[in-house]
Amino acid sequence: MRILLVEDSRTSVLMVQSLLEDDKDETYELSVAGTVAEAREQLQTHEFDLILLDLTLPDSSGLATVDSIFAVSGGTGIVVLTATSDEQVGLDALKHGAQDFLIKDETYRKVLLRAVKYARQRAVAERELKEAQELAEFATQSKSSFIANLSHELRSPLNSILGFSEMMLENMNGELSDKHREYAKDIHASGRYLLGLIGTVLDMSKIEANRIEIHDDPVDPQSLLQEVIGSLHLPKEGDFERIVVHLPEQLPHIRGDRIKLKQVLINLIDNAVKYSPKGGMVDVEAEWLQDTGFIVRIKDRGIGIDQTQIASVFEPFERSSGSREHAIAGTGLGLPLTKGLVEAHGGTLTLESQVNVGTTATVTLPSSRVIA
Ligand SMILES: Nc1ncnc2c1ncn2[C@@H]1O[C@H](COP(=O)(O)OP(=O)(O)O)[C@@H](O)[C@H]1O
Ligand SMILES: [Mg+2]
Repeated sequence: MRILLVEDSRTSVLMVQSLLEDDKDETYELSVAGTVAEAREQLQTHEFDLILLDLTLPDSSGLATVDSIFAVSGGTGIVVLTATSDEQVGLDALKHGAQDFLIKDETYRKVLLRAVKYARQRAVAERELKEAQELAEFATQSKSSFIANLSHELRSPLNSILGFSEMMLENMNGELSDKHREYAKDIHASGRYLLGLIGTVLDMSKIEANRIEIHDDPVDPQSLLQEVIGSLHLPKEGDFERIVVHLPEQLPHIRGDRIKLKQVLINLIDNAVKYSPKGGMVDVEAEWLQDTGFIVRIKDRGIGIDQTQIASVFEPFERSSGSREHAIAGTGLGLPLTKGLVEAHGGTLTLESQVNVGTTATVTLPSSRVIA
């Protein structure tokens, strides 16, 4: 372990030297600098694992010493050595970038070695953590650009599948038989489904790579909700679902990304309808509470989610056991995407649910998004 000792007192240097020599578990390479200028020079030309820094030197004293060394330490840990009863200086040194401080009193001999080893372990742990973070970041970024390219490549042929099946359905080059018309409809519907899926996967990868962009549009929640409900392909009235919207008279406008907020509401209302039995009823409520923010609740009386699975359904491709038992189709990408979109607005998405009783999804946007 390479240590730079910045210390002008000869007796202190000798003491540190003998303490380090006594340690049988580790070998130390000790360099000594008597002034800040000398220390800075050594730091620029050599690598160290730890800096032991006395604050009172011929060319600098106090916190200024920490500042001048910290500026050139390049991330190497600094342990400050202060005179007896200088605890406050030690504490201040931490704010100026030191990792630890030791007071030179009678216990100093005993704690020095421990502090040195501890600093070493901390440096190793920090380096490993940083490497792991960089690797994860790199993996996410490359995955994201891979998916972006792949989506682009998939979309072009898909658009011809959609375009040609549409042309066939329009009888462009001759009448289709009933069977052929059915096939063409199927081709078209599957193509549309795939196109939607590709878009969702692309959005997911942007969220994971923190690359999602949120526009700041003024949004009228009431008209947005109306638009969302109008765009859902609800089964015809009668023995099917009903959506009941409860809005207070006065609902403030909010700032947010209109298209993404629409996506959020569509996904949640679509789930509420999809996971409800025929004839089920879905309630949509919105309110503004000054302290909490802007809240939208979507409540159904459907199949519900087992308590133990609520956390996992927010993970990509995860679905509840209930949705499989009831054979309800889905990919498990809606909720993770929705959660990411809400969080990109600084908000939260939570689910409360009970099996066979129903589910309530709650979106909360912070008050800072409310236009008073
Ligand atoms: N309103 C709801 N009622 C019951 N289960 C739900 C509801 N919303 C979501 N889930 C469960 O969470 C899972 C993940 O939802 P989502 O990501 O939207 O995927 P999916 O494509 O399956 O709808 C669903 O598969 C379902 O098991
Ligand atoms: Mg869904």
